[in-house]
Amino acid sequence: MSQATNQSWGGRFSEPTDAFVARFTASVNFDQRLARQDIQGSIAHATMLAGVGVLTEEERDAIINGLTEIQGEIERGEFQWSVPLEDVHMNIEARLTDKIGITGKKLHTGRSRNDQVATDIRLFMRDEIDVIEVELTRLRDGMIELAEREADTIMPGFTHLQTAQPVTFGHHLLAWQEMLARDHERLLDCRKRVNVMPLGSAALAGTTYPIDRHVTAELLGFDRPAENSLDAVSDRDFAIEFTSFASILLMHLSRMSEELVLWTSAQFNFIDLPDRFCTGSSIMPQKKNPDVPELVRGKTGRVYGHLMALLTLMKSQPLAYNKDNQEDKEPLFDAVDTVRDCLKAFADMVPAIEPKKESMYEAARRGFSTATDLADYLVRKGVAFRDAHEIVGLSVAYGLKTKKDLSEMSLEELKQFSDIIEQDVFEVLTLEGSVAARNHIGGTAPDQVRAAANRAREALAALKGVS
Ligand code: ARG
Repeated sequence: MSQATNQSWGGRFSEPTDAFVARFTASVNFDQRLARQDIQGSIAHATMLAGVGVLTEEERDAIINGLTEIQGEIERGEFQWSVPLEDVHMNIEARLTDKIGITGKKLHTGRSRNDQVATDIRLFMRDEIDVIEVELTRLRDGMIELAEREADTIMPGFTHLQTAQPVTFGHHLLAWQEMLARDHERLLDCRKRVNVMPLGSAALAGTTYPIDRHVTAELLGFDRPAENSLDAVSDRDFAIEFTSFASILLMHLSRMSEELVLWTSAQFNFIDLPDRFCTGSSIMPQKKNPDVPELVRGKTGRVYGHLMALLTLMKSQPLAYNKDNQEDKEPLFDAVDTVRDCLKAFADMVPAIEPKKESMYEAARRGFSTATDLADYLVRKGVAFRDAHEIVGLSVAYGLKTKKDLSEMSLEELKQFSDIIEQDVFEVLTLEGSVAARNHIGGTAPDQVRAAANRAREALAALKGVS
């Protein structure tokens, strides 16, 4: 048989595969990343086959020993991957047959590469989700801790990127944390649908051998065997769910990155990022660039791209398996790597954020950020809100002209706009008074931030037990 004809299916072919076609259709250069899961799946399959009497115990042991040795060869970098053997599955099976002879050929009884590959990807995704969850938890932990530490730190809050009202930095950080909490739930929800076993579906219709799919599922730690063989070998919606999760997460990380980039600029000057997260410029000696958040912001694009690629890959595919599905791996691998790296970068970086408290405070003081507090003060004294809004608007116009913040005006100056205003107004015009007054669940008051940080920590601890 020719080199270019795959020995696993070459029987019905009368001429060898075109060399280009062999290379074009091969996936081994990327799917060798599934080797560990492929071997894990094969060992479980062989164990189940022996359990139901399709393989003898000797055959099972020979297969398991052979596969274990192959695992070692792969880990040591000794394994020779062959493109003519097409993919990870046939590379490993061919090596097994080299090593243990004819028994190696029995491994594929009652199985097809279609259910095999679907199983491998799900095992792989489950492993990666668990690693990603550890990083996400580490990031959330660090963020909650920083928020608690900065519960009293005052900064301007923005709408339209214009100074709006004072908030606490801790409150801002807990807003980020809430985004991540929902991402975390989405990840765990995705894991439930990943952890279902296609194996036993064979090519598409199931198999005539007396297999026990519950045994295989249990050996592999799957929650259950997939219900329908046609669906199990063909759908990749779990990969789409993961990349949806990844896209939303990266969207959140990108928003945070954008704020970090703004805040490190001389114009904002709200935070310092330690040098190890930044780089310099080869031409401008004064520069310290926030490369890590910029790169996370940039990487968001490729993850969105992978989501689109997978959605488009699956649209219009008739049941059951089609070769199109081989295209699921590269986007998925890259999405997994990108998510893991971005989360690691953030988990390392967030606890190291150094707020420049004075600068934040000054910025909050400058932008008439307590104007709403003055309006609320007037309303409490009986002025209708619309009239109060007007009075405060005139005060702000006066402040702009005289370059004075509301809290810097004298009582006489304020009284020009309403003689209802008394000395006690200065309690609400301070930044501390303003944030402390928003004292309800979800509000920015320092006490609320501390309570929210505690609840966030409890919610995180409760999730950890889930997967
Ligand atoms: N390399 C293939 C993939 O990744 C494995 C399944 C091939 N099955 C087939 N019938 N050609 O999807």
